Amino acid sequence: MSLTTFLAELDGLIQELEKDLDKASSISQLEEVRIRYLSRKGRLAEVMKGLPKLAPEERPEAGRKANEIKEKLSSLWEAKKRFFEQKEKEERLRDFDPTLPGRIPPVGTLHPITLVIEEVSAIFTSLGFEVVLGPEVETDFYNFEALNIPPEHPARDMQDSLYITDKTLLRTHTSPLQVRTMLAKKPPVAAIAPGKVYRRDSDLTHSPMFHQIEGFLVDKKVTMADLRGTLTLFLHRVFGSETRVRFRPSFFPFTEPSAEVDISCVMCGGKGKVAGKTCRVCKETGWVEILGCGMIDPAVFKMVNYDPEEYSGFAFGLGVERIAMLKYSIGDLRIFFDNNLRFLKQFV
Ligand code: DAH
Repeated sequence: MSLTTFLAELDGLIQELEKDLDKASSISQLEEVRIRYLSRKGRLAEVMKGLPKLAPEERPEAGRKANEIKEKLSSLWEAKKRFFEQKEKEERLRDFDPTLPGRIPPVGTLHPITLVIEEVSAIFTSLGFEVVLGPEVETDFYNFEALNIPPEHPARDMQDSLYITDKTLLRTHTSPLQVRTMLAKKPPVAAIAPGKVYRRDSDLTHSPMFHQIEGFLVDKKVTMADLRGTLTLFLHRVFGSETRVRFRPSFFPFTEPSAEVDISCVMCGGKGKVAGKTCRVCKETGWVEILGCGMIDPAVFKMVNYDPEEYSGFAFGLGVERIAMLKYSIGDLRIFFDNNLRFLKQFV
């Protein structure tokens, strides 16, 4: 074979390939063309078989040319392939209707309990309180002992508390956060502690798990007037400024003196009757109990190494479900934990 014939055969491949590419009308036909020309047994490989038959001095030039042709064949083929891909994409887009309404992902709502915790937290943080959190599995020390709750106190009874071991239990209130926070910080401190609490209680108005928010403030010369002013402001913000607030003497082991706070009934406005009938919320008394509070007992200060001669403080604890029920006029506590979407979606 002569060099001229070899080179002419190589050149001829270009035109042949171009013709076949023109004829190809689908990706699969295009693939057939690739195999026909560029595979190991294709046309190019066949022509290359002539290379060893050339005179040795002709081979370098023939080899160079062969490579050039191979590149050219490949790039012609690639160009056609890109053309097909583009066409396919355009066809797909033609079937796409951009005027169709989008699929809107369902958006969740915040649980009413979360909403109340957020509202109460916002009110107290605006007054300079910080939000602190603590463990739900608590020790006897933080839950009872450091809060001046004596060993024989009924709250410590297995009947009321959910114990995990002798000395650990699910916290029965958020008050342990008073102790934890005071042990960690020097006064002045002002904090609120929202969270889940647990008791052996389950009926229409009690759930074994519910939520409380603890609050407390310690500084020099804190008095009951500060407690009264702070809680009145808070209750006016949550229930409206026309709400009346009253303090009743009470008892808690960790406060002295202690009080329970009532607000005028949110349902009947304190009148005791709605449309001539007994108000179902206050049972005609005109008042509803809303929280417990008091001045922190010196015995608690001693437990956290605060000097009761130098510092004084107030504390309070409220039930989140109770506030949510009054605020949103909900009659049944269990509805908070049923996870009924028709109920939950009303709280946006
Ligand atoms: N820990 C009390 C309870 O669960 C609520 C409470 C009452 C908290 C008075 C306080 C307080 O901080 O001063 O019933």
